[in-house]
Amino acid sequence: MDKLELIKYDLYAQDLRRIKHIEGVAESAIEIKNRHFPFITDETALCAAYMHDFTKEYSKEQHFAIFERYGIELDDCEARTEKLWHAKSAYALAKYVYALDDEICTAVLYHTTGRAAMQPLEKVIYLADYIEKTRTFVDCVDVRDTYAMLCEKRDKNALDSAILYSLDLTITDLLESRRMIHKNTFEARNHLLKEGIE
Ligand SMILES: [Fe+2]
Ligand SMILES: [Fe+2]
Repeated sequence: MDKLELIKYDLYAQDLRRIKHIEGVAESAIEIKNRHFPFITDETALCAAYMHDFTKEYSKEQHFAIFERYGIELDDCEARTEKLWHAKSAYALAKYVYALDDEICTAVLYHTTGRAAMQPLEKVIYLADYIEKTRTFVDCVDVRDTYAMLCEKRDKNALDSAILYSLDLTITDLLESRRMIHKNTFEARNHLLKEGIE
């Protein structure tokens, strides 16, 4: 069994509440990488897509057992923000259990917060996660439509502009609901602005 088959086998053996979302991310990731980064292989994009929410349904105990076992440290914001745990625990499994390439591991690690100077596969998974077809949240639909419009206009910055827009909406949503905002999310946004993305 190759690594992709093994990941899918282990994923489908779990609680499958999020499987439609994960399959949606896999489909979007292929579309996005074919459009912007055709050098990324299907297998690489699919490994990242199937891993990204691998631990999403894990309990607090399961997440922290993984952090302890693999020496994963949490900063203050991460420790206090439950939604950020799954990216770090899935990263640990991607790296140490499935021994996936670094580009896949970091795409999993930064899929929720983004970060400054995101790498091609990180951008693909970040946007695919936000706009995949089963997402019905108004902000997701808005970014999906904006990205489609930019691609149609052959805007050379379609991917970065869509990511910048999703970061704006995420930050606004976190502000309005008085939740903590991870510094990686600010740095991701600032980096794109510095590059002249609109
Ligand atoms: Fe996630
Ligand atoms: Fe996700």
